[in-house]
Amino acid sequence: MGTKLYIKTYGCQMNEYDSDKTVDILKERKGVEVTSHPEEADIILLNTCSIRDKAETKVYSELGRLNKLKEKNPNLKIGVGGCVATQEGSNIKKRAPYVDLIYGPQTLHRVSDLLEIDTSKGIKAIDITFPIEEKFDSLPKPTTGGPSSYVAIMEGCSKYCSFCVVPYTRGDEVSRKPEQIFDEVARLAEQGVSEITFLGQNVNSYMMPFKGRILRLSDLIEIISHIDGIERIRYTTSHPLDMTEDLIEVYQYVPQLVSQLHLPVQSGSNRILEKMKRNYTIDIFTEAVNKIKSYRPDLRVSSDFIVGFPGETEKDFNETMDLVNEIKFDSSFSFIYSKRPGTPASKLEDLTSIEEKKERLKILQDQLNFYHREHSKNMIGSIQRCLVTGIAKKSPEQLQARTECNRVVNFNFENISFIGKLVDIKITEALSYSLLGTLHNSRGKN
Ligand code: SAH
Ligand code: F3S
Repeated sequence: MGTKLYIKTYGCQMNEYDSDKTVDILKERKGVEVTSHPEEADIILLNTCSIRDKAETKVYSELGRLNKLKEKNPNLKIGVGGCVATQEGSNIKKRAPYVDLIYGPQTLHRVSDLLEIDTSKGIKAIDITFPIEEKFDSLPKPTTGGPSSYVAIMEGCSKYCSFCVVPYTRGDEVSRKPEQIFDEVARLAEQGVSEITFLGQNVNSYMMPFKGRILRLSDLIEIISHIDGIERIRYTTSHPLDMTEDLIEVYQYVPQLVSQLHLPVQSGSNRILEKMKRNYTIDIFTEAVNKIKSYRPDLRVSSDFIVGFPGETEKDFNETMDLVNEIKFDSSFSFIYSKRPGTPASKLEDLTSIEEKKERLKILQDQLNFYHREHSKNMIGSIQRCLVTGIAKKSPEQLQARTECNRVVNFNFENISFIGKLVDIKITEALSYSLLGTLHNSRGKN
């Protein structure tokens, strides 16, 4: 019987991506089989996240539960990866001595070597360094699980926003070699992938020399739009400061680039943005959005917000609400500020009560939900170009597709071969989390 691997992923899309790659590497090098039942696993890996509060506590209590499995199966190997691993390092061994290996987001390609180490001889299986280029070079050939795929183009972050742990847990920004990216996209397209999402902690700060010039994200988008079969292009997560002219202009001439942009703003107050060390003003943010809207009037913008940053006043918060009402953001994320150890913001005085912060979060989320519903309602009667992703989850007589703004649309189908293709769907109904529609006509590749 093959070795069974159970992997649990916390946090962002980058972590999801990293877990997929860890699985691919362990399949290739150790012939593992993935299981969704920890109790039958030979290897258990936790791919952790430390972006907000209590992440460490959650990991330690999960480890406590997993240790019981180890009592039953002494050959079980338990590993901790991801951002908590980088932050806690060998502390994990002190609090949970039964953990066999500790690896960071940039050393997941070394997991199979770490698993070989005989820790009973006192040798430590810990590697939380940042060999990012080596990681990119070691990734196995991509395999697909459907018509849509992520492609990491850069890693880490050098922005050092005052509240954020990412630069410390994932290291400074490193861009991936363009030839590796093009090769990966071409391979995915050959396997039938039609939607590519470029992924990075700060995806639009991408910069790499190639054949005598410097390539930016805008160049990558333009170049892959010529690869046969690539019908849709997305990127996430971008930073307002790197919404440079060339990236804005690309909306004019690459039709495959979706009219949807995730652009984290964090706050609508310039005073707070400065304290957050975001290095832009609200005018810079809205100018970039409006410029893209002049090319794409149907552009949907989603964002990330933090409420209750140290020193945020009622006036600052109201400025965030003004921005929400001006931009009418679509499907966004919002969080209460969480004090992270080692970050500059953790030293700031914070006098706002948690009750007040919760109240602000509720006001913000109610308004974000309101615009989300409004956008959905306004889509009724419109024709949307959608990528068919598979059979509908709840009704097997329907197919599931995604609009450019990433809403799920279910529709009755005539032909199962629509899966993986772009079709035009007339939206007939807006539900809370999805849309219903009817096939208008199909187009795209055959
Ligand atoms: N690179 C992205 C952010 C990645 S982290 C950017 O450009 O903004 C994802 C989101 O988590 C952030 O946008 C922020 O809204 C939230 N976040 C990060 N640190 C946080 C903290 N200490 N407290 C609350 N939310 C936080
Ligand atoms: Fe974090 Fe700011 Fe980078 S939010 S990921 S430090 S852009």
